[in-house]
Amino acid sequence: MIILGIETSCDDTGVAVYDTDAGLRAHALASQVELHQPYGGIVPELAARDHIQTLRPLIMEVLIRAKVKPAQINGVAYTAGPGLAGALLVGASLGRSLAWAWNVPAIDIHHMEGHLLSPMLEPNRPEFPFLALLVSGGHTMLVDVSGVGRYDILGSTLDDAIGEAFDKTAKLLGLEYPGGPSIAKAAEHGNLGQFRFPRPMTDRPGLDFSFSGLKTYARNTVAEGDLDDQLVADVAWAFQDAAVDTLVIKCRRALEVTGHDQMVIAGGVGANSELRRRMADVATTRPISVFYPRPELCTDNGAMIAYAGGLRLKSMAKDSLDFTVRPRWSLSSLGAV
Ligand SMILES: Nc1ncnc2c1ncn2[C@@H]1O[C@H](COP(=O)(O)OP(=O)(O)OP(=O)(O)O)[C@@H](O)[C@H]1O
Ligand SMILES: [Mg+2]
Repeated sequence: MIILGIETSCDDTGVAVYDTDAGLRAHALASQVELHQPYGGIVPELAARDHIQTLRPLIMEVLIRAKVKPAQINGVAYTAGPGLAGALLVGASLGRSLAWAWNVPAIDIHHMEGHLLSPMLEPNRPEFPFLALLVSGGHTMLVDVSGVGRYDILGSTLDDAIGEAFDKTAKLLGLEYPGGPSIAKAAEHGNLGQFRFPRPMTDRPGLDFSFSGLKTYARNTVAEGDLDDQLVADVAWAFQDAAVDTLVIKCRRALEVTGHDQMVIAGGVGANSELRRRMADVATTRPISVFYPRPELCTDNGAMIAYAGGLRLKSMAKDSLDFTVRPRWSLSSLGAV
C-alpha cells in the first residue's frame, strides 16, 4: 500500500510517500527556520500561513520524485496533534480534502507516535517491545512500548522539554535558533570541566525530568563574566554535558526497571552526537541495542507520519467528513493496532 504523509504541526512542512512493500519512496522538507529566526522563536500565525503556501507544491514535488500518481495512493496520513492549532489545521484540511477527492481513507496521526516509530524506517530496526526516549522541542518522555498504540509513559518533563532547554540556553548565549545544533557546535570548542552543571532530578527515584533549572544555571554562570567566544563554548559544553548525562542516567534507570534490551531514541535531540556517543558507552556495559532514525528524520518530517499511517490504515474505521485537530493529545490515549 502507498501512503502520502503530511506533517505541519510546528515550523516544518514535511511530505513523504511511503510504500509498505518497498519502503520510503520520497520525502521532502521545507523548513521555516529563516522565517522565525528574527523573532528568536516560532510565531504560530506565520507558521500556519507559510504551511498554506508551501504544502501543495511540496506534495506535487514529492509525488513526482516518488514516481507515484494520485490513483496509486491508498491513504493520506496527516499529523492531527499535538502541535500549533493553526498549523495543524493546514495539514488536516488539505490531507482530508485530498483523501476525499482521491476516495481513500484519511488517517489522523499523533505526532509523537510518528517520532516514536521513526527508527522503523531504517534497515536496522527494533522489534516490539522496547523502551523509547522521545526528546524533542516540546516533549521529553520515557515510554514503555509493547506494540503500535500500546504506550505506557514512564516519565516526562515537569517543566521545559529538553529541546526547549537547548533553544533557550542557546538564545541567552547569543547562538542561533534552533539551539540544539548551535550548542553542540559551540561545545566542540569548550574547555572540558571548566563548569559543572547539576543533573536535575537524578538524586531522587523516578523517571521524570526537569530542565528549566539548567537554563537558569547557564544564565547565572554567564552573568559572572564577559560573554566572549570561550565563555560561550565553555557554558555550551557544560550545559550539553549535564543535559546528556541526565538523559543517560534516566535511560539506564528505565532499562533497569523495564528489563528491555532494546531502546529507541527519537525526536530532534536524538540527532545530538554526544548523546549517541554516551548511549554507545552504555551499550558496552550492558547487553542492549540502541536504535535511532537517521539524523534528518530525528526532527519533524513527513516520512514518520506516512509510516505510522501505513500501520494504522488497516484498522481505520469508516471515514466521516468531520475532522478536528488536537493541539493537546496524550500519547497514552491512542488505540492499539
Ligand atoms: N544536534 C542536536 N542536539 C541537540 N538538540 C537538537 C539537535 N538538533 C535538533 N535539536 C533540537 O531538537 C528540537 C526540534 O526537534 P523536533 O523537530 O523533533 O521538535 P518539535 O517538533 O519542535 O517538538 P515536538 O516534536 O515535541 O512537537 C529543537 O529544540 C532543536 O534545538
Ligand atoms: Mg516534532
